[in-house]
Amino acid sequence: MNAGNFIKSPVDVGAASVSFERTVTPKSGLQRATLSVTAIGLFEAYIDGKKQGTGVLMPGYTAYDKGLQYFTYDVTEPLRAGGRVSVVAAPGWAVGSLGWKEYGKSYNDHYAVNAEVVLAYADGTEEKIVTDGAWEVYTTPTLFSDIYHGETTDYTAPIKLLGNALPDPTGEKFLLVAQRGEDIVENERLAPVAYIVTPKGERVLDFGQNLAGYVEMTYEGKRGECVKMTFAEVLDKEGNFYTENYRSARNEVCYVLDGTKRVYKPRFSFQGFRYIRLDAFPAEEVPLDAFRAIAVHSNMRRTGRFVTGNEKINQLYHNTIWGQKSNYLDIPTDCPQRDERLGWTGDAQVFCRTAAYNYDVRKFFKKWLADVRADQMENGAVKGVVPTSGQIGPETRISAAWGDVATIVPFELYRMYGDKSFLSDNLEMMKKWVGYQHNAGPEEFLWLGGKHYGDWLAMDAGPDVYVGATCTDLIASAFFYYSTCLVVKAGEALGEDMTEYRTLAGNVRRAFRAYFMENGLPKAEFPATFFTAAGKPYDEFRRGMTQTAIVLILHFGLCEEEERAGLVAKLLDLIKDFDGRMTTGFVGTPYILHVLNAAGHTDVAYQLLFEERNPSWLYSVTHGATTMWEHWNSLKEDGSFWSTSMNSFNHYAYGSVCDWLYGVVAGIMPDAPGFARFTVTPHPDKRLGFVNCALDTEAGRVESNWYYKGDVVYYEITVPAGAEATVTLPSGYTATLGGGTYHFSG
Ligand code: BGC
Repeated sequence: MNAGNFIKSPVDVGAASVSFERTVTPKSGLQRATLSVTAIGLFEAYIDGKKQGTGVLMPGYTAYDKGLQYFTYDVTEPLRAGGRVSVVAAPGWAVGSLGWKEYGKSYNDHYAVNAEVVLAYADGTEEKIVTDGAWEVYTTPTLFSDIYHGETTDYTAPIKLLGNALPDPTGEKFLLVAQRGEDIVENERLAPVAYIVTPKGERVLDFGQNLAGYVEMTYEGKRGECVKMTFAEVLDKEGNFYTENYRSARNEVCYVLDGTKRVYKPRFSFQGFRYIRLDAFPAEEVPLDAFRAIAVHSNMRRTGRFVTGNEKINQLYHNTIWGQKSNYLDIPTDCPQRDERLGWTGDAQVFCRTAAYNYDVRKFFKKWLADVRADQMENGAVKGVVPTSGQIGPETRISAAWGDVATIVPFELYRMYGDKSFLSDNLEMMKKWVGYQHNAGPEEFLWLGGKHYGDWLAMDAGPDVYVGATCTDLIASAFFYYSTCLVVKAGEALGEDMTEYRTLAGNVRRAFRAYFMENGLPKAEFPATFFTAAGKPYDEFRRGMTQTAIVLILHFGLCEEEERAGLVAKLLDLIKDFDGRMTTGFVGTPYILHVLNAAGHTDVAYQLLFEERNPSWLYSVTHGATTMWEHWNSLKEDGSFWSTSMNSFNHYAYGSVCDWLYGVVAGIMPDAPGFARFTVTPHPDKRLGFVNCALDTEAGRVESNWYYKGDVVYYEITVPAGAEATVTLPSGYTATLGGGTYHFSG
């Protein structure tokens, strides 16, 4: 496709959707016809009114200036006898409001489409029809469309010809690439589970599940009647509809009915919601069956299943799965509802191991990693959000644990799938990121003085604080070491000489230990290295003796073997000091249970898993959550909300605990990339009753099932044919077993 062939509407239609059309009449002897389409904005392609493909929200969300995907459809049959090709378009991510930017300020100030029909004939000749001034532009009933704000569609509005399309040279700044990612598709369809009239008298439908997608309504009504719905994730403590946490995202969907029975749903917008409020509906009686919530997300194959005899843990697992469904909508987002829905790199990094247990995410991440590479800055920096370009740009920080997405995601995917292209595609980026860390700050082997997100939302700096108490210099330098180690491993797997990076890792480790530790423990606190314009230390607390600091030191191997016992003892003390709970935020949470388990304190790990007071995983479960929350206590004990400014009920980051459920509770872990070798080391606990876990790996389906009968545990472990696994049981039994199903008890 040619970036020179974009066309736009001849009149400024703002955020209304229009259709670009022309008739294509092949000569006789047509052998094959293809239609390739893209848009700066969003598009759907039709032939004679029939939609092509099953995807929605095309061309998805990428760093458009560095890779705008085009989609190709086989249209041989629909075009054989000729047909009307139409490309319906709207602003979407590229043109509509996005991040901190208003309409028209992200990638372009108007939308445009580019299409190409290739007709191949039996005689070997080819005819190409591209978008140009011959295409006509028509209005559509959709008068307003925006990802954040919703859609207004008026079926009584007359369809008008606006004129012939204009060639649009603004398209030339976009690099066209063939579709890289999965299609975004409509998945689960949920019927309302309740109709609620709130104390304020609002008419509310509850779909019983928080999700990302939209509501479909099948309804007739009378010409000119209106339906207006708004969306919410939660009701407030009085039971009224609550939308403040959506911030500026209006999430409003309006229809003007024309009196024919239709299926109504947004075309170029999506919402994050569990409830809808009918602000306008023509009938007194609301026909519940007319409504369905449709979950929309990238098309991914489910690979992991995990069920226990404990309903609360099952709900936690369920909430994580729905967190992934809601936030793997073409890019890994932080949340699907408020005025963000952005590719926050820290969140993506934290969750990717769990994601790869749950679903086959290879293609999903291949696409997004292309953008991480493309958006990496000259100096190697990776910002807090990818796609970086086009939206919040300068405001996003270059933060440890966020930028480390550059090393962690490629390596985790290699670990899970054994596909070396995750390393070869990304090794340059990984090295550049480590190069950035190396050059950041005044010290050669430490990263001091950065402006980080820290142990985001940790609980050790007091309630309602964003950046936790752990010294951000410590976190940054620990991740510098970890990323350097991952670069070494990646390079070695590709057969490269990694001496330089091995030496660097050794130097970082030495410098870390000298600056941040004494007597085998982290120092208590550290000097300020970064100040706000008003001269206040940006990192307010700068503590070393925190759960997260110790977890990072243990998990990343920044300690000597003989120091482990002392560090673990300190970690246990800190858990005790916090009344038996964890204080960790985004950074420490994914590792804390692994660290406890590796140190032989599986009982304490389970204690944290089963904890129900805030902060804990089960706090949200016992407060009715159906997805993971952004804060441990997004909904507070007294029924009030954490804040109005940052409080999502569909943030998957803390769902990273699921990799511990698969990897430790069921005990299925790769021991060599792609499960070429793997271990099954179950850790039963009576409170779970039983675990049934199945994982489709590159080696085949692995199963780890166990159950209690009295005090005896019975195991059933399946190793796929042709594979080998080392099975280790709490009794001390350990053996390497080939394909087959094995039973044990003990
Ligand atoms: C996002 C987070 C993100 C953070 C940066 C928030 O607004 O929703 O999940 O990682 O900013 O710390």
